[in-house]
Amino acid sequence: MKNFIETLQNTEFNQEELIRLLLSEGEERTQLFQRAQAVKLEIVGNKVFFRGLIEFSNICSKDCLYCGIRKSNEKVIRYEATDVEILDACRFAWQNRFGSVVLQSGELSSPHFIQRVDGLLRKIKEMSKGELGITLSCGEQTLETYCQWRESGAHRYLLRIESSNPELYRKIHPDNDFHRFENRIQALNDLKTAGFQVGTGVMIGLPFQSVEDLANDLLFLKRMDVDMVGMGPYIEHENTPLYNFRKDLQSKMERFDLSLKMIATLRLLMPDINIAAATALQAIDPSGREKALTIGANILMPNLTPCEYRKEYQLYEDKPCLDEDAELCRNCLEARIELAGCEIGYGEWGDSKHYLK
Ligand code: 5AD
Ligand code: FES
Repeated sequence: MKNFIETLQNTEFNQEELIRLLLSEGEERTQLFQRAQAVKLEIVGNKVFFRGLIEFSNICSKDCLYCGIRKSNEKVIRYEATDVEILDACRFAWQNRFGSVVLQSGELSSPHFIQRVDGLLRKIKEMSKGELGITLSCGEQTLETYCQWRESGAHRYLLRIESSNPELYRKIHPDNDFHRFENRIQALNDLKTAGFQVGTGVMIGLPFQSVEDLANDLLFLKRMDVDMVGMGPYIEHENTPLYNFRKDLQSKMERFDLSLKMIATLRLLMPDINIAAATALQAIDPSGREKALTIGANILMPNLTPCEYRKEYQLYEDKPCLDEDAELCRNCLEARIELAGCEIGYGEWGDSKHYLK
């Protein structure tokens, strides 16, 4: 067997090698992080790109067992931001030279919802003279809907696979036709067919999840040949069914550390993709996202959701920045990013090198 340092120089990794990286401790863990940072700087460079995140509605037709805004959580007050509010947030992003925005919501598939998103895309494009890049994160839809939204101006789409192990996927979702693993895979393929740059990802530290699962998740991301990945720690939410399994979880710090190792390992496995520093990292460690930027991540998603809605978009507990307004968030972000030794890619879409290839 190769020694650890030799393994780090690989460009291909098998499951056994990935597990070794994910379980690294002490000196080896430091070497993994250093290597991931070096690969990032060499292949994608020092720039961090902003995606202004607008969580425009928490109305959801699905019931994922881990998610705080699941349909059955009656403690959530449901909201839909108005077009004016959404456009204001987009204008803020554009004027502050964020290259792009992410429109995220609960999953709905009504004709009304599909048309609403379509109209928003057109308005945002018009308002920003076509300059603002638009990413959607609105769940599983038909190929037809994806094509329509692509046509209307969205060019990236985020849809996490959550876990690439079909059995684990089944354990964290209701057992019905709205929550099938196969549909999720189909949706990812449809997004590619529709011409989107596709981002996916997983939750890390789920109950019933093994390190083999996580290594397989990384191999899945590679096999899917995605352009972008967002992944972060699973954080239990009191008003969800999965909360019953909280005793089986690793500590939050362990899940945080495992998430950093997943990001670093992914950077070695897929050197030229965009990797987001997930907000869930910040829910565990206040400088969690900046830490991710120093070990392989290159994308940050500042929250531009109107403040009054933020507390109703709690997918997990301790979600940060609940009462900061967008401007404040931006200033604190800049300072933190400089501390992490990175430069901000203002006014650029920041498409992944992988996609451009
Ligand atoms: N902990 C961490 N991440 C979560 N998400 C949803 N619920 C949780 C949770 N309890 C993530 C899912 C989803 C994304 C929008 O948020 O991965 O795809
Ligand atoms: Fe809304 Fe999972 S609970 S998509």
